[in-house]
Amino acid sequence: MVDGRVIYRSSAGAWRPAAGELRESGAVFVGARARPLSEAGDPAVYFRRAFDAPPDLVTATLHVTALGVVEPYVNGTRVGDEVLAPGWTSYRHRLVVRSHDVTSLVRSGANAFGAIVGEGWATGKLGYEEIARRRRFADRVALFAVIELRRPDRTELVVTDDRFRTGEGAVRANGVYDGVTIDATLEQAGWNLPGFDDRGWEPAEAVERDLATLVDPAAPPIRRIEELPPLGIRSSRRGTTIVDFGQNISGWVRLRLAGPRGHAVTVRHAEVLVDGEPDYTTLRTARATDRYVLAGTGPEEFEPRFTFHGFRYAELEGLPGPLSVADVRAVVVHTDMPRTGWFTTSNPLVNRLHDNVVWSMRDNFVGLPTDCPQRDERLGWTGDINAFAPTAAFLYDVSGVLGSWLDDLAAEQAELGHVPFVVPDVQHTYRAPTALWSDTAVSLPWALYQEYGDVGILRRRYGSMTAFTRSVEALLDERGVWSSGFQFGDWLDPAAPLDDQKRGRTDPHLVATAYFAKVAREMTETARVLGRTDDAEHFAALAGRVRAGFRDEYVTARGRVSGESATAYALAIEFGLLDPDQLPVAGRRLADIVRGDGYAISTGFAGTPHLALALTRTGHTDEAYGLLLRQEAPSFLHPVVLGATTIWERWDAILPDGTVNPSGMTSLNHYALGAIAHWLHTVVAGIEPTSPGYRTVRIAPRPGGDLTHVRAAHRTPTSTIEVEWSVDDGMMTLAVDVPPETAATVELPLHPDGLAVPVEAGAHRWTYRASPRSGPLSLDTPVGTLAGDDTVWPAVTAVLERHLPALDLDRFLSRNAHVALATALDDHSALPPHGRREIAAAVRSGRRSR
Ligand code: BGC
Repeated sequence: MVDGRVIYRSSAGAWRPAAGELRESGAVFVGARARPLSEAGDPAVYFRRAFDAPPDLVTATLHVTALGVVEPYVNGTRVGDEVLAPGWTSYRHRLVVRSHDVTSLVRSGANAFGAIVGEGWATGKLGYEEIARRRRFADRVALFAVIELRRPDRTELVVTDDRFRTGEGAVRANGVYDGVTIDATLEQAGWNLPGFDDRGWEPAEAVERDLATLVDPAAPPIRRIEELPPLGIRSSRRGTTIVDFGQNISGWVRLRLAGPRGHAVTVRHAEVLVDGEPDYTTLRTARATDRYVLAGTGPEEFEPRFTFHGFRYAELEGLPGPLSVADVRAVVVHTDMPRTGWFTTSNPLVNRLHDNVVWSMRDNFVGLPTDCPQRDERLGWTGDINAFAPTAAFLYDVSGVLGSWLDDLAAEQAELGHVPFVVPDVQHTYRAPTALWSDTAVSLPWALYQEYGDVGILRRRYGSMTAFTRSVEALLDERGVWSSGFQFGDWLDPAAPLDDQKRGRTDPHLVATAYFAKVAREMTETARVLGRTDDAEHFAALAGRVRAGFRDEYVTARGRVSGESATAYALAIEFGLLDPDQLPVAGRRLADIVRGDGYAISTGFAGTPHLALALTRTGHTDEAYGLLLRQEAPSFLHPVVLGATTIWERWDAILPDGTVNPSGMTSLNHYALGAIAHWLHTVVAGIEPTSPGYRTVRIAPRPGGDLTHVRAAHRTPTSTIEVEWSVDDGMMTLAVDVPPETAATVELPLHPDGLAVPVEAGAHRWTYRASPRSGPLSLDTPVGTLAGDDTVWPAVTAVLERHLPALDLDRFLSRNAHVALATALDDHSALPPHGRREIAAAVRSGRRSR
């Protein structure tokens, strides 16, 4: 049961004793007698200790943590509303102790403290395939607690030691991946109350553990955040009951059941129905099954603990009677982060896409940033959060949860000598650094600094950032190219073969070198901000060397990028790897590729976050809208059209026949490709910080596609920025609200004079007749569009016929209909430079104002 609130204080909270003081309390970690390793896992351990409290008690405070997941009780009342505590950190280095004010629960005289500790991440199964293992961080669960009883003149402590006793109860199997079994017939009534006879229980044993790992919480707790009623309840063909909650979530199902003692009910969780029936393929080996055995005491409420599931559907088996809507709820569970970003438009599909991004973020922030919440993984994959961090930081205050995770990353990096692919590390095999994954050591602190403007973020991470950067520096070849070693490349490019997701169309070392050039620049800036002049010089030189290496290896003099993939162009453009005169050529090629593909997405984890931004940067926002709005696979909206409620791991997670992609890499809830929302926030709504922490902001919405109305807000560290625009019957309206202490420049979209105005804090509104969106015809216009213009096309073809008499015009037109004229001309080296100029003049002379 949820009772009074936890008093949650961040590590800055002054009242809580530091970890050091707790160590001096005499408390030790205690556990039950060790058991042999079993595939089924161990039942949860029940701990109890009776204690007396004095009549003059002023305050009582419980400091508690566990290796495993702990549920504390005082006198039978569950303490706090935190679940899955203490979450998952790198237990070898950091174990979070949470403090609760329990004054109202302690009474003068006899009291009892109780705790149930489940396997959680410390001893439960973790990892997949050959790395799946139990007891990765400890051989058994263990509890650590200090109850501080403050009296007017002194403080008394009740601490975990061999006076604690251990037993068992209703909670049997309790795996994060596989689910819980709660057998209510085995619960020992009153086990956590004073006066309970615990003579049948065993004394707790001290479990060796380095108390130096105890740390204050940096992240908000994991809580039940929201409850969803069922959208529908029906029978399956197998005769089970299927409940649809209408939303893919992380959390669990709460049930009210009435039936005879010993009756068992099973709840299995699924993300998707195939052919109307639950499909469990996306879970891989995770059983995601909760079992309840009824005590037969009338309506009983069941809710799992010590686990969570990623699901939209629940399949119930063995119900003792018909299930009514009031008897079942989905409970959404994740880290309780404050919301900071909102975005809606006039297009319901785009809104659903954005909602899906928000949900995938929520579902993957259960204590730490994970890849997915449903299958036998749920790991802190470094690449996924690197791709998604700027989006995450717009939507929620992630300073705590990602700060905590970066503490773990740095601790593991210091121990292992490299940044593991997943943090906490469960792979334990040395892997050389790889772009987008390991370099989150640099790019995540950098992204958080951009969001929060807090130099302390960079100061705290500096050692980890430099160690990573120098490790890759040592791997570069003599030209400054990162040309060797394993790379994930543009992971999950839709063209990659099913059995090798790394083999997309972009050379993995091109991706690696481009990312490292970005990282070296971020390092240079970081060193500058921290006043580390020598380092700044070193990293600036490194950035220059890698950029030169990239250009030498992959970029032509005019600005074409090797491999001709959308990702290659997007990275070269966004990471500043091209000279100003190369940018238009690259932008045009990128736009051509995107148009040529009919706006089908062709990028994976590495390219997707940067693709639409690169199009906008080079003046091709219309193509970015084309990408956003395409509904056929592969595209952002295709899953939405199919009814997705979260972002899929891969573009083709559901195949055209409605079945789940059998690759084994098919989660319907991965946030990485949701990074498109960063473009929605910064370009479509146009809210973009121009200095860290939003001290200066550019507000430059760029209307496009079929959007007629957009509204967004972002709570910055100081206040909230709001933007709303609409286009109605040719009239453009823009309203912005700028917080105090923020210097904003507003670029009025579709303004006939292209106005950019500095604005003061406060509300501002402009209404004016919008000038047409598409610019005049130019060499950047697709050949097919030019051919539709009665004035321009005859003038262009006349020049072409003069200079290229052998040219088959029909073929030229059909091959290049979607390609910019300038690019199409690149293929005709016989065309002299003055011929090109004549064509430009022909386009200009005939151009209409559109
Ligand atoms: C995870 C990812 C991760 C990838 C890298 C997957 O199994 O789900 O999202 O980044 O592996 O190999």
